[in-house]
Amino acid sequence: MTTKVAILGGGGMATACASLLTESPETAVSMWVRKPEVAEDINVHRENRRLLPGVKLPDAVHVTSDVDAAVKDADFLVIAIPTEFVRQALTTLKPHLKGETPVVSVIKGIERETFYRPSEIITDVLGPRPVVALGGPSHAEEIARRLPASVVAASGELDLARETQQLFSTDRFRVYTNLDIIGVELAGALKNVIAIAAGICDGGKYGDNAKSAIMTRGLVEMTLFGASFGAEPSTFSGLAGVGDLITTCMSPFGRNRSLGERLGRGETLQEILSSMEAVAEGVNTTRSVYNLAEQRGLEMPITTEIYRVLFEGKSPEDATQTLMTRPPRE
Ligand code: 13P
Repeated sequence: MTTKVAILGGGGMATACASLLTESPETAVSMWVRKPEVAEDINVHRENRRLLPGVKLPDAVHVTSDVDAAVKDADFLVIAIPTEFVRQALTTLKPHLKGETPVVSVIKGIERETFYRPSEIITDVLGPRPVVALGGPSHAEEIARRLPASVVAASGELDLARETQQLFSTDRFRVYTNLDIIGVELAGALKNVIAIAAGICDGGKYGDNAKSAIMTRGLVEMTLFGASFGAEPSTFSGLAGVGDLITTCMSPFGRNRSLGERLGRGETLQEILSSMEAVAEGVNTTRSVYNLAEQRGLEMPITTEIYRVLFEGKSPEDATQTLMTRPPRE
């Protein structure tokens, strides 16, 4: 029997998921791309020339800006758009969705106004339904080229995590399962903040030692934050935690790392954002995580300094000195 999957999004990750899912002849895939001109361009060229150039989109993927055509029969909805657009897109899509269609989220952020995780935004807008978070080191540019990758599907309902594992798995894409959706979502969001710090190390030429320290101590902050929201600390030493942190901090084309690199070289946030094609989720996430950490009295020095650099005009060099001259620790 054919499983119908509707993917919400026209970005690199949405396109990579579409390519991946069509590897199974039993899966029919449609992509809902909000802007008609973008849907048309992808359709005509069978390539996402703006956000995933050089990768051919399989003919079997149906790309449309008609929301009803994309989602009305869907057995699964996959959401692959930046956090800031999720609420509005789901509000538009809701009347067209049948029943309690399960949702797979590959979103890595926290909503700015509500501090909701992606699965919380999804159930807030669409009503109660099963949600899976797919996280881990998963750069779209690599997945779409069939380079080997391993991720984790997390859901409070293990059966759904296993269905998602079955749906997404290929001989080049390995999917593990766990029950810790809070941990997987928070790890996916927080690693973007640390990647900005790692990028600053690159841009400021602070060296390998500094960057490794940022990643290691950043993971401690991520784990502390996650535990305070009921996540399993072990999730942060898995694919969605340290795994994704390594990819995001090391990749030359990582958006959050690149943004940090440019800050480290002296560009302003406004200059960087106005020249970026894709969204670097870490900017809004830093604001949310900083505020939540303040509310809960959590000590998150790297996140705090990234917040000061992004939103208070502190120089990356001064932020580095603040971190290096903190009171001694065990
Ligand atoms: P960037 O948005 O920083 O490129 O990170 C992508 C990612 O989440 C890889 O798993």
